[in-house]
Amino acid sequence: MNILVTGGAGFIGRWVVKKLLEARHRVTAFDDLSNGRLLNIEEFRDNPDFSFIKGDIKDQEQLASLFESGYDLVYHLAASINVQDSIDEPRTTFDNDVVGTFNVLEECRKSKTRMLFMSTCMVYERSLDESGISEVHPVRPASPYAASKLAGEALTLSYYYAYGLPTVVVRPFNTYGPFQKSSGEGGVVAIFIQRDLEGADLNIYGDGAQTRDLLYVEDCAHFVIQAGMDDKTNGLILNAGLGRDISVNDLAALISSDPGRIKHVPHIHPQSEIPKLLCDYSKAHNLMGWEPKITLEEGIRRTREWIMTI
Ligand SMILES: NC(=O)c1ccc[n+]([C@@H]2O[C@H](COP(=O)([O-])OP(=O)(O)OC[C@H]3O[C@@H](n4cnc5c(N)ncnc54)[C@H](O)[C@@H]3O)[C@@H](O)[C@H]2O)c1
Repeated sequence: MNILVTGGAGFIGRWVVKKLLEARHRVTAFDDLSNGRLLNIEEFRDNPDFSFIKGDIKDQEQLASLFESGYDLVYHLAASINVQDSIDEPRTTFDNDVVGTFNVLEECRKSKTRMLFMSTCMVYERSLDESGISEVHPVRPASPYAASKLAGEALTLSYYYAYGLPTVVVRPFNTYGPFQKSSGEGGVVAIFIQRDLEGADLNIYGDGAQTRDLLYVEDCAHFVIQAGMDDKTNGLILNAGLGRDISVNDLAALISSDPGRIKHVPHIHPQSEIPKLLCDYSKAHNLMGWEPKITLEEGIRRTREWIMTI
């Protein structure tokens, strides 16, 4: 297939690109490099089936000429992903995640191209339920990032209902692994490993009792690819996660080589914190047989190994 991956130079995007190339598809990565890096896609540079185009999904004209290539499938991952940035300056997130998604959908509609929209578990309402969060769980726009993803989801599904366009929404839980930035927000595993290797403190926001369901990035990429290619997913929302949650305190203890360097600091956005994130991925499992393959311990080992090489 001829496939477009927006955000293809980003952390998850580069893994989606890699797996698609391994399956012998033709892949174009489209990215404005606002958070992506050429380093992430260097490995594919000499692959004749791969091309990279630097560009912005907010630029309608550029998108229109991009789509002249006639894609069979679009994985739409490009987005502003930082919760705190979305709180500090919501317009950028709105423009990239809502307007950008609308622009991509419009091109898909005109060219009748199948499209997968990458949402997030951050859209969910708080839940302390030990059985995990399934797709029918209520949503709550706790930040402009979550609100923008919910808007993107609604637009994506509206193109399925209104135009019969084959679209699917996926909500991966917190994803980690090699190529994730170890600075900034979101990459808690990468940040903890990096700081541990540097002999620095591991700073935990709040009391650290908040839990995360951590999905290894190659499991995430397989899920995304499968959801985009399977006709049974049309018009659906699908979760993916490990199905096991761990408190940030326990995660720090698992990664740290010196418990004395684990510190608690005030939370930067307590109002948008989710106390428990545990994924129920049974819908994706029942529908397409997907399940995660990499344990947290193995994923941490692989991530540490990668960080040590850079
Ligand atoms: N990392 C996670 O834990 C996680 C979990 C669930 C969902 N997601 C979603 O997965 C997707 C990828 O996330 P990631 O963690 O790889 O982040 P990332 O920032 O590495 O990837 C996003 C990419 O989009 C690009 N981009 C941003 N705005 C753009 C624009 N206007 N035009 C073109 N490119 C643009 C960035 O440069 C970046 O390369 C995002 O949609 C994110 O919301 C991430």
